[in-house]
Amino acid sequence: MKVIDLRSDTVTKPSAAMRKAMMEAEVGDDVYGEDPTVNRLEQLAAELVGKEAAVFVPSGTMGNQLAIMTHCERGVEVICDRKSHIFNYEMAAASVLSGVQLHPVDDLHNEKGIGTIMGDFIRPPSPFLPRTRLVCLENTLNADGGTVMRPEQMAVVYRLAHEYGLQVHLDGARIFNAAVALDCEVTDLTCYTDSVMFCLSKGLGAPVGSILAGEKTFIEQARRYRKLLGGGMRQAGILAAAGILALNNISSLSEDHQKARALAAALSGVPGAKVDLEKVETNIVLLDLKELPARQFLELIGSNGVLAGAQSCNTVRFVTHRDVTMDDIQEAAEIIKAVLCQ
Ligand SMILES: Cc1ncc(COP(=O)(O)O)c(C=O)c1O
Repeated sequence: MKVIDLRSDTVTKPSAAMRKAMMEAEVGDDVYGEDPTVNRLEQLAAELVGKEAAVFVPSGTMGNQLAIMTHCERGVEVICDRKSHIFNYEMAAASVLSGVQLHPVDDLHNEKGIGTIMGDFIRPPSPFLPRTRLVCLENTLNADGGTVMRPEQMAVVYRLAHEYGLQVHLDGARIFNAAVALDCEVTDLTCYTDSVMFCLSKGLGAPVGSILAGEKTFIEQARRYRKLLGGGMRQAGILAAAGILALNNISSLSEDHQKARALAAALSGVPGAKVDLEKVETNIVLLDLKELPARQFLELIGSNGVLAGAQSCNTVRFVTHRDVTMDDIQEAAEIIKAVLCQ
């Protein structure tokens, strides 16, 4: 049976060109800083996001955790959105690895949230309270349906954070989706951050890898922590070669956004479910199910060849990517509608 896999943009497989580049990659021992392909990727990536330096890491999770570890000492607090990946989907790693306390905030990403972090969430000096050290943003915000944070919003957080002596880290796993959706340079967003992580292995199509970028001294320390966590990868040029080609796929993310809009449009008005068309800004579609539990719905569409993920008990998430065509999307929409109309 044909399978249309809309669980995540991480399911994308390396293209033939990537596989060839991987096979032919010039490599060396990256722990000694001698892998020319990794060095080239790190330099390209740093330039792309407008930072002094970058380090290649095996995963987005490691990139985020290295940022937290490098920005923070034990016992401090990190403000993040309640829906953020760092708070919900990283196995409590910030507490386990860095000994920090995450302070989740509702709607950190919208105007209301930005106002409230100033008064209520940055800790005042006190012998009883932890010190706030870092704000983590996420753009696009995965669990909110891939919604985009605009440069003006990021600027407000950044200026406020710096006023209070805090640093700003961006979980930019899908920051290029945000830049493409806003039709702006990625540096128009990353300029409001002290560090940024982005993933090569999601919509950009590389098989493995993410980048953490920031100031030179910050990246030097993050590189030491990468080794501490077992992320020193030796002849990693084989992976970096695919990462370099993935950077060519940035502009084509707009096609993934078109596919998401097409899926959302096809599903709007279907009985038994609701999709908020206005929230479909990038490559993620959230479908709220009125009656069917998400798990049962996923089994039903799965048995007809469409894969998606559960976002909550009654919300499912579809993610579009370069390995599905517009025809696949139309086909998936028909299958989903048939299940909902049963
Ligand atoms: C917003 C966000 N941040 C971080 C990550 C972590 O990336 P990885 O799966 O490479 O650890 C993900 C993965 O889905 C993500 O969606």
